[in-house]
Amino acid sequence: MNVVVEPMRWWDVDAVHDLECDLFPSDAWSAEQFWQELAQPTRRYLVAREGAAIVGYAGVFVMAPDADVQTVGVRPDRQGHGIAGALLSTLIEAAEAGGVTHTMLEVRADNQAAHALYERLGFERISARQRYYPDGGDAIVMRRARSSAERLVGHDD
Ligand SMILES: CC(C)(COP(=O)(O)OP(=O)(O)OC[C@H]1O[C@@H](n2cnc3c(N)ncnc32)[C@H](O)[C@@H]1OP(=O)(O)O)[C@@H](O)C(=O)NCCC(=O)NCCS
Repeated sequence: MNVVVEPMRWWDVDAVHDLECDLFPSDAWSAEQFWQELAQPTRRYLVAREGAAIVGYAGVFVMAPDADVQTVGVRPDRQGHGIAGALLSTLIEAAEAGGVTHTMLEVRADNQAAHALYERLGFERISARQRYYPDGGDAIVMRRARSSAERLVGHDD
């Protein structure tokens, strides 16, 4: 089935929140936090839809010339098919077209799938934050420069 990437709407929040709770059981955002994100003009959120089901979501904070990846998640049974890549590359392309020159993010040091994804999208490690997460996990800070030669494309399903 085709995956369609489109803006997240208020009526998507419950399904996105359910997915968030599956993906981040210890520190999931509440539905109210997603509502607040959607209400902010500096935020851009997308969902990936397969038929009626939401299989992924991602958001960025954009204040040109800077942007920050807020979150990204893909339903476990649909991971590894380029869905997160498609979501993030769409958000970053739009942000860079609007004047963003650098996009930042923090990622858990032990999240190998996310590291692979971000490196493919042209992010480079710039620093580490010890015990950044509430459970004591370390974070890696990564940055993508607009001039990055990396291709902003996902893989084919
Ligand atoms: C990280 C995440 C969003 C990636 O979503 P996805 O749709 O599978 O991403 P893509 O298919 O676009 O790319 C994933 C990359 O990770 C690789 N990968 C997938 N699972 C992996 C694993 N367990 N270990 C190492 N690499 C893995 C894929 O091969 C791919 O790399 P490649 O492009 O070099 O082949 C997804 O794993 C997820 O939702 N994880 C839980 C939530 C999370 O950790 N979010 C990020 C918070 S910073």
